[in-house]
Amino acid sequence: MPITTCVFDAYGTLFDVTAAARAAAAEPGHGALAAIWPKLAEDWRRKQLEYSWLRAITGAHTDFRAVTADGLDWAMAAAGLSDPDLHRRLMALYDRLDAYPEVPAMLAALKAAGFATAILSNGSPAMLDAAVTSAGIGESLDAVLSVESAGVFKPSPEVYDLVGDRFGCTPAQVLFVSSNGWDAGCATGYGFTTAWVNRAGAPVDRLPWRPAHTLADLTPIPALARSL
Ligand code: LAC
Repeated sequence: MPITTCVFDAYGTLFDVTAAARAAAAEPGHGALAAIWPKLAEDWRRKQLEYSWLRAITGAHTDFRAVTADGLDWAMAAAGLSDPDLHRRLMALYDRLDAYPEVPAMLAALKAAGFATAILSNGSPAMLDAAVTSAGIGESLDAVLSVESAGVFKPSPEVYDLVGDRFGCTPAQVLFVSSNGWDAGCATGYGFTTAWVNRAGAPVDRLPWRPAHTLADLTPIPALARSL
C-alpha cells in the first residue's frame, strides 16, 4: 500500500540531543564541561529514556520535561556536578536544539511531493513547539503529535494510534522514521513501515521486530517514501 504520511520521531531524529551539552560547554564559565560534555550528554539521554520506559511500565506518567530534568539531574550527579544554574541552562538549551542540517530540505521535499508530514514524540507540546519554532520547520509539518494526548510514553501502542487518529490513515500507509532503534523496531511491530536512521552505525536492537529500512541520515527519506 503506498505511503501517504511520513511521521518523524523528534529527539535524536530531527533534533540533535547532544547539542545542548556541546553548546553549554562552549559558554564562558562552563570550563568544567569542556572535557566531559559527551559523557554527560550520553548519560542524560540514556537516563531520560530509561525513566520514560519505567514510568510507562509502572503507570507513573509525568511529562517529558520532568523526565528530561530527572535524567539531567542523574547525569550531573554522576559527573560530580552540583550547579543548579548549569542545570537550568542545559534545560533551556534543550528547547532550542539544532536540527540536523538535512532536515529543512528533506521535509520541504516531502511536502512538495504531496505527503502528509508530522512529528510523533515523547516531548511535551511546549517543548516540541519551542524546538520546532527554533529550527524554523513548522511550515513543513502538518501536525506535531505529543504523547501527552495519550498520557503514556513510547513504545505504548496508544502513542502510535495518535497518527491514525489525526490523519485517518492505516498503519501500512505510514512511513515512521526514528533514530531510536527501539522506537523503529516497536513501530514495525505496531504495523508502520519503518526507517531507522542509524547515524552512529550501532548494532540493530534485539527485539522481535526489526526496522524495515536503515539509513545513515535523513536525506534519502523523500525518495524512499515515493518508492514504497
Ligand atoms: C522522542 C524521543 C523518543 O522524540 O526521542 O519521542
